[in-house]
Amino acid sequence: MLDYRKIINDFPILHKKMNGKRLVYLDSAATSQKPKQVISAVKEVYEKYNANIHRGIYKISETATQKYIESKEKAAKFIGASVYNEIIYVRNATEAINLVALSWGEQNVSKGDHILISSMEHHSNIVPWQLLAERKGAVLDYISLKDNAYIDMDDLKEKLEMEPKLVALTHVSNVLGTINDVKGITRLAHKAGAKILIDAAQSAPHMKVSVREIGCDFLAFSSHKMLGPSGIGVLHASEDTLEGMNPVYGGGDMIRSVSFKGCTWNELPWKFEAGTQNIEGAIGFGAAIDYLNSIGMNDIEMHERKITEYAVGKLKDMRGIKVYGPDAGDSRNRSGIISFAIDGIHPHDVSQAFDSEGIAIRSGHHCAMPLLKELLGESALSRMSFYIYNDEKDVDAALAAIEKTKKIFRR
Ligand SMILES: Cc1ncc(COP(=O)(O)O)c(C=O)c1O
Repeated sequence: MLDYRKIINDFPILHKKMNGKRLVYLDSAATSQKPKQVISAVKEVYEKYNANIHRGIYKISETATQKYIESKEKAAKFIGASVYNEIIYVRNATEAINLVALSWGEQNVSKGDHILISSMEHHSNIVPWQLLAERKGAVLDYISLKDNAYIDMDDLKEKLEMEPKLVALTHVSNVLGTINDVKGITRLAHKAGAKILIDAAQSAPHMKVSVREIGCDFLAFSSHKMLGPSGIGVLHASEDTLEGMNPVYGGGDMIRSVSFKGCTWNELPWKFEAGTQNIEGAIGFGAAIDYLNSIGMNDIEMHERKITEYAVGKLKDMRGIKVYGPDAGDSRNRSGIISFAIDGIHPHDVSQAFDSEGIAIRSGHHCAMPLLKELLGESALSRMSFYIYNDEKDVDAALAAIEKTKKIFRR
């Protein structure tokens, strides 16, 4: 069981008010709040050992280098990777996916090849493949959805018959909250001869994610959605895969030697990390991983499932509310993301009404325009999303805000 009271005390921002009301933060799918342990870790870098890594032969530079590497070791362990060489630090999940498209994609995708993604992807896992397909003359296929909530497995199998070079799939939809069977789909993709990239931006913060267990070729996620600083994220791939990939950025640190004629590349993981990295971000990320581990990913998943079940159950019974994603009864396949619409009220008005109650939710297309517009028939939706610092009390506040919003707009 997760010690909710203790957790709340670790998040300074949650003791602030918004518009004179207790801040109820229900927008963790966009970015998470930070515990004091992460804030202190970043502050400690500036106060005690701020120096560039790798280069300095002096104590504080050595400390910074060691802490940076420790952060990678923690990230590797967190996702069940064997060595830290397989952890490439990037700015965020978006950059991780682009890195695969610009490196592996450039080298392995040719004219007429197929790339397969799903219809529930975030723009970050659509646009890099659209750009690659355009550059290469490749074909981008989209897996259909069943009941506007799940991957249509028959359609997936049919599209795998086109023998795509790559399948790129989100683990958890940032709109529907659906948890996809990434392990099963990875097996199918490999059987069809494809590599597979899993976008773990919405799963790694909330449940145990193991690259060993999933068996995927690439995994991408961001620190800022899992209690860590912004500007740092992970691309994971095996050493073999990374060895075969060309770097995308050239510059300091990614080389072994440079002459006027050319250069040779550094060993992993530095080959992909050109220039000065987000050192304090990486160290803060390490502290975020420690914090999540101290609670336990299984307990985090259970806690969020309990709140989500409660919220979806209540919303389902409310007049004039439409909830998207898996049904209330399918909580095992749904994470703590709930997109909803209030009949006749624009989501931006909903957000504003919530704001005046001190409640932060998100409204808009959630960077998934094809899903919203072409499948759900909506230009915008409201979304509440949960994390370890939320409980049923926050859901009750949101439900009360919905009723109040309906009254204001006479619905
Ligand atoms: C499913 C999914 N993938 C990718 C991203 C992109 O994450 P970032 O903005 O940290 O790169 C997001 C962000 O919301 C997301 O929800």
